[in-house]
Amino acid sequence: MPTPIIFDTDPGVDDAQAIAIALAHPDIELLGLTTTFGNVTIDVATHNALLLAELAGQSIPVAQGAAEPLVKPKNPPPGHIHGDNGLGNIALPEITTQALKQSAAQFIVDQVNARPGEVVLVAVGPLGNLAAALQLDPGLVDKVKRVVVMGGSIREGGNVTPVAEANIFNDPHAAAKVLQASWPLTLVGLDATHRCVLDPQSMARIVDAQGPLGKVLGESYAFYRQFYRQALGIDGCCPHDSCALVWLLRPDLFTVERGYLSVVTEGLAEGQTVMAPERREFVDTRWSQGAPAEVCLNADGPAVIEWIVDTLTTPPAR
Ligand code: RIB
Ligand code: CA
Repeated sequence: MPTPIIFDTDPGVDDAQAIAIALAHPDIELLGLTTTFGNVTIDVATHNALLLAELAGQSIPVAQGAAEPLVKPKNPPPGHIHGDNGLGNIALPEITTQALKQSAAQFIVDQVNARPGEVVLVAVGPLGNLAAALQLDPGLVDKVKRVVVMGGSIREGGNVTPVAEANIFNDPHAAAKVLQASWPLTLVGLDATHRCVLDPQSMARIVDAQGPLGKVLGESYAFYRQFYRQALGIDGCCPHDSCALVWLLRPDLFTVERGYLSVVTEGLAEGQTVMAPERREFVDTRWSQGAPAEVCLNADGPAVIEWIVDTLTTPPAR
């Protein structure tokens, strides 16, 4: 039976690659896309979510969500990484669909309550929508099947500050509410995603197989690749958001440790994620709030890339 998921996203070049996986994989039932600010403004995120589903020829509900962080001022979107339009500043086709009138948080609450124990929330942007959903219905912690978050970094260091990963840094107060809640949660952070590089040859195979969506994936990848080459000396890109879906369907490709998560919300280290291993004792219990999470600390990078390419080059079942 396919796993019903809600994909919470700030598309974003690597988000688009992950959305293509969510749209294509037979073991995923994509209930909807919920959008947030982050890589782009909320309006651009919602536009891109609608566009990507249309390009794949699928009718997927899109519910618009958080336009800014819970507390801190919004950081300007990283146009130098994802492009001002979130998809590499490439020319994009017009869209013909519209988002739901329902907010992202309400959509999440309604979908989870309609199918208690079945729905997986996969969040690959700042976590304001999941925090708002928890505010609307605190009982969600007992009704989701699991929450999978692409975000954070335990030992790898940060990508937007020396210690903070972008999704957490963009809304640390929302992240603290989500990562410290008592629901079953898996964190797929930079410790895993930095082990994976989607190389140009693999991307070319995906482009050839994905039709109109593949064209957008390929052209936006070209823009993103320039950032990776200049900033990190890598020829390719880390498919951060796709790794959240790879974990969901192939957890064996990841090394996880159970631990309690905390998020630094103020000061120099704002956005840092801290893990207190489940069986360790520390001087105080404040690092062990909520429920222990499954935290990815490593990944088999080549196998992750092979799975992504297989998924996006396998023709859909008739
Ligand atoms: O740090 C990587 C994460 O931040 C990814 O989700 C990417 O899309 C950006 O949102
Ligand atoms: Ca993202």
